[in-house]
Amino acid sequence: MTDRYAVIGRPINHTKSPLIHGLFAEVTDQDLAYSAIEGSLDDFAGDVRRFRDSGARGMNITAPFKLQAFELAEARSERATLAKASNALKFENGKIYAENFDGIGLLRDIEHNLKQPLAGRRVLVLGAGGAVRGAALPFLQAAPSRLVIVNRDVGKAQTLVAELNNPLLEVCSYEALAGQVFDVVINATSASLTGELPPIDAALFGQVQLAYELAYGKGLTPFLRLAQSAGVPLLADGVGMLVEQAAEAFAWWRGVRPETRPVIDRLTIPLV
Ligand code: ATR
Repeated sequence: MTDRYAVIGRPINHTKSPLIHGLFAEVTDQDLAYSAIEGSLDDFAGDVRRFRDSGARGMNITAPFKLQAFELAEARSERATLAKASNALKFENGKIYAENFDGIGLLRDIEHNLKQPLAGRRVLVLGAGGAVRGAALPFLQAAPSRLVIVNRDVGKAQTLVAELNNPLLEVCSYEALAGQVFDVVINATSASLTGELPPIDAALFGQVQLAYELAYGKGLTPFLRLAQSAGVPLLADGVGMLVEQAAEAFAWWRGVRPETRPVIDRLTIPLV
């Protein structure tokens, strides 16, 4: 019998998840169907339960429902708990399980695909929203020498850092970045979605070897353009993260991890 999965979000028309999971199913020979559901703002839990009750096996969750997905789950992973958000649900043994693969997907893209291990490196993350909450734990486990979170609202970053309680983690204001040196800079703000540049300047990129933009498919965002003009040798957007988090969810649901490279290549839009 064909097992059913779906991604739920609002809006959902631009989602790449059905394409990605369809390709994964093909290469791993898994009998599954994966669709997209436009969630209702006033009855997200009902949407999930109806899908589950129809015999479906799991869901991916995207904006704006990641928090609600986490809350309605009956069992939650540590990563999801720290993120207070879930991007993948599994329906099993009459229970709803919550995971969060966004951070591990990002880390895997950086370390495995881009071949930039974070161990011993000075890492700066811009932003302190949901994306950073998801990434914080996997990043700490990668053992960078410093992990600095910079945010306009410094209090928000401080709250996150206090929850993690790890001496490697630091909070910074944008003003206090002047003179600091980093190896890897990750833009996890939502600034690029509106074509904005976080309040940074080219001097930040002096020794940076990788500038990573979480948004994907937008070509050179203002952040990547600034990094490029500052001479950063490696630029990346979030397409690899998108495919890697999908592969993690697929493995969680199906017990087999698909190869990601061909799918990343297929979805990549050149950074120009
Ligand atoms: P997400 O789930 O994508 O992380 P979010 O939780 O709404 O989204 O968080 C958005 C993040 O982008 C926040 O860290 C926000 O900074 P503030 O908390 O200071 O508002 C950051 N952000 C959005 N636009 C920005 C901009 N133009 N410059 C810098 N940071 C920005």
